[in-house]
Amino acid sequence: MSVILGIESSCDETSASVCVDGVILSNVIANQTIHEAYGGVVPELASRVHQQNIVPAVQQALLNAKVNKNDIDAVAFTRGPGLLGSLLVGVSFAKAFALAKNLPLIDINHMQAHILAHFIGDHKPTFPFLCLTVSGGHTQIVLVNDYFDMQVIGQTIDDAAGEAMDKTSKILGLPYPGGPLIDKYARQGNSDAYKFPEPQIPGYDYSFSGLKTSILYFIRDNVAKNPDFINQNLPDICASVEKRIVTILLNKLQKAAQAQGIKQIALAGGVSANTGLRLGLQELCTKNGWESFVPKMEYCTDNAAMIAIAGYYKYLKGEFAGQQIAPLARMPF
Ligand code: KG4
Ligand code: ZN
Repeated sequence: MSVILGIESSCDETSASVCVDGVILSNVIANQTIHEAYGGVVPELASRVHQQNIVPAVQQALLNAKVNKNDIDAVAFTRGPGLLGSLLVGVSFAKAFALAKNLPLIDINHMQAHILAHFIGDHKPTFPFLCLTVSGGHTQIVLVNDYFDMQVIGQTIDDAAGEAMDKTSKILGLPYPGGPLIDKYARQGNSDAYKFPEPQIPGYDYSFSGLKTSILYFIRDNVAKNPDFINQNLPDICASVEKRIVTILLNKLQKAAQAQGIKQIALAGGVSANTGLRLGLQELCTKNGWESFVPKMEYCTDNAAMIAIAGYYKYLKGEFAGQQIAPLARMPF
């Protein structure tokens, strides 16, 4: 039997989870609302709030799982990538806990963990599969050969898809994080109302900075003609922007899947919570006779369950970290 405590603190969610023999028994996520007033995550504030939330989050995760802290076999934690000050809180907590209880440590790559969230529950992909990982900081097409054998075959050369969502919402005057709000308004709008350009980038790489600029100019020009333009057209603007981002993401994904001859396609990361993207992937897979894997909502955005499940598979391999381990703001795999 293996009882893994998972800790996630890479950005602005403090999260703890308990995984017993590959089954997630709890997943406590403490969100940080303090950043809303600033229109984005303030790293200094994020690490302070992690410091306040980490112990209560772990206590609640143990309580929800009905697991005693003395029964834990290993502590898995996000080593990177992420905000250094935020990571330090989780890494230091994990090291202190492991030292006090004489437990092995398991270091986890946050981006790999987003993908391994697909191994929570019954609908698991089989290797090899392709995963489109779309978050606030990353946009990657990953060829997943095994639990920890992953190859990035395409990625953004500038902004991430989540960043494009968040920046659009900022231009529209919506609060941070904007992705969920774009999603909400898009459901009520006409996605063909406005056309935004599709970047011409070779291979499987992405670019979102040109799109962001064209949205900025589009809004600026229309507001100059009609100061109430945003208010009057918010659903149509959100639906049109979301459609463009989704088609950019899925066109490259389709190209990569066809070239690799892969028939199992997964979504991961915060933007995989987006309704348009989830529906779009299902449509794409049905059209091509592929199987789609879309994470449950609570495993899309940052959470410790994905760290705990990744920790479980590393525990089975017997791969542990030493007490000298330090976080990494950048952490390729
Ligand atoms: O994976 P994640 O929680 O954190 C990072 O590792 O970055 O992803 C956060 C990103 C944010 O950009 C947020 O706006 C976006 O995911 N997001 C969404 C939705 N929910 C979260 N974007 C579009 N639609 C959503 N429903
Ligand atoms: Zn993430």
